[in-house]
Amino acid sequence: MALIEWRDEFQVGVPAVDHEHRELIALINHLHDDLKARGAGAVSECLGEIFARISAHFALEERIMRDARYDQYPAHKADHERLLDDIRDIMDDYEDRRQFDDAVLAQRLSDWFGVHFKTHDARLHHKLPH
Ligand SMILES: [Fe+2]
Ligand SMILES: [Fe+2]
Repeated sequence: MALIEWRDEFQVGVPAVDHEHRELIALINHLHDDLKARGAGAVSECLGEIFARISAHFALEERIMRDARYDQYPAHKADHERLLDDIRDIMDDYEDRRQFDDAVLAQRLSDWFGVHFKTHDARLHHKLPH
């Protein structure tokens, strides 16, 4: 089963952005499938890759915001940092206790996507379509 199911509420209404977000989620699901296939030995590596893909997406958005001197850059970036911190916590937990619950990761990601996409990303991409 996919880690994260795409939901209509993820849509920001700008086709290029929705496409990017769908691709990001597909990639996360793919990495999660890989983790299932490879077992416990691959947890750190797969979590690290999920983290890297998400932070690459954020870095791109943050560059667009900085270039355009976007008015809500600090708040938007802070919300990105919040998700990255959550993922780091899950990774640290695994390093400390060798425990990983993918339901927790799925919940955090999909709760965060559900709110961030329709608030911060929808505002940004309607102001600065690309
Ligand atoms: Fe985004
Ligand atoms: Fe964003």
